Amino acid sequence: MRAYDIIKKKRDGGVNSREEIQFLIEGYLKGEIPDYQVAAWLMAIFFRHMEEEESYNLAEIMLESGDIIDLSQIEGEKIDKHSTGGVGDKTTIAIAPMVSSLGLKVAKLSGRSLGHTGGTIDKLEAIPGFKTDLQVDEFYKIANEVGIVVAGQTANIAPADKKLYALRDATATVEELSLIASSIMSKKLAVLSDGIVLDVKVGSGAFMKSIEDGRNLAKIMLSIAKRHNRKAKALITNMHQPLGETVGNSLEVLEAVNTVKGTGPKDFTELCIEISSHMADLAGIISYQEAKKKLIENIEAGVVAKKMKEWIKAQGGNEKVVDNPEKVLSISKNTVDFKAKNSGHVNYIDTEKIGMASMYLGAGREKKEDSIDLSVGLKIFKKLGDKVEKDETIATLFISQNSNVEYALDLLDQAYLIQEVIPSYVSNDIIFDVLE
Ligand code: URA
Repeated sequence: MRAYDIIKKKRDGGVNSREEIQFLIEGYLKGEIPDYQVAAWLMAIFFRHMEEEESYNLAEIMLESGDIIDLSQIEGEKIDKHSTGGVGDKTTIAIAPMVSSLGLKVAKLSGRSLGHTGGTIDKLEAIPGFKTDLQVDEFYKIANEVGIVVAGQTANIAPADKKLYALRDATATVEELSLIASSIMSKKLAVLSDGIVLDVKVGSGAFMKSIEDGRNLAKIMLSIAKRHNRKAKALITNMHQPLGETVGNSLEVLEAVNTVKGTGPKDFTELCIEISSHMADLAGIISYQEAKKKLIENIEAGVVAKKMKEWIKAQGGNEKVVDNPEKVLSISKNTVDFKAKNSGHVNYIDTEKIGMASMYLGAGREKKEDSIDLSVGLKIFKKLGDKVEKDETIATLFISQNSNVEYALDLLDQAYLIQEVIPSYVSNDIIFDVLE
């Protein structure tokens, strides 16, 4: 077999066999096939795409290149959840105690922030004492005793994806749907949960800009999951504006805490209840409708907040954050307001730019090695369709001496389109579609 023939076949619109994909990926990992040949193959895929069979094979080959995380030592139904990435997305922190209150087990590996998107592990570390680097035994113990555990990814999961992703990043081939689906699923399938709910975000703050692209990505990921005998559902959700009202680590924990106590923002609360109810339904524990009803009751009765406290305590964090978040969390006292230059209505938000503004304040990383400041970020007061008066505050920036405030303000200025006209259509739906 020759790399040249595999590339040529894809270039000419052919379908690569499992053996051919395996030959390329394994050869690349071993250093026997050079970057330039794999880069050429990726570009051929970018223009010719992959069939579902090829995406499935690529996902499996990449997942088999690394560790498999066995969750069988954890009793009960374990449903994983994955978000394709957005701005202000703190769902895991609120969803974990929500689904736990319904009787599901949460045993999850999460990531850190990169670029305009945040990461659950950074956010959890904003809770004083919270440990995310758990030993395997501790991970199982907390899951069994408390029902919730969320840890950072220390295992060597899908190293082939890591290497291929870096090459895609350098060759402008990240955006191809079939490659994104294989990449995400190689990591998700490596954790042996009983099922997965995929939160596929679409809009100005997401990879997928249109509902159609979101649906197409979801379909490929679902087909990979099903062929791998894993139960899965996909929700196509709104990322045309930041989720909730905060972006930045401590600020987002504050919002997640308020949400489990029933005082969170409406859009974020609704999304968390939807995803949690679909997770419970997928587990087969309780129907989607019953789960929704029960979750609202559990939030009102304080059951979800109690679960959150137990979880935080079990991972070494200060559980008082649930009762007194503003006292426990470190949120910068230095603030600057971003004000409207003219009156009108919010017609459009470039959400990715808001994520970038938060990154330049110090809440996120431009490069993997960058350090972050958990106390900085943004609180947003104006969302799509809202009326704004000249000089009214659109967002408050929580800053530190290392924040690039000027650039962040400039990005916010570019992000908000405020016009006199009332927008004829505002995309305020939380969920656009559910696919199974
Ligand atoms: N997230 C991933 O893990 N991989 C992609 O290719 C895109 C988003």
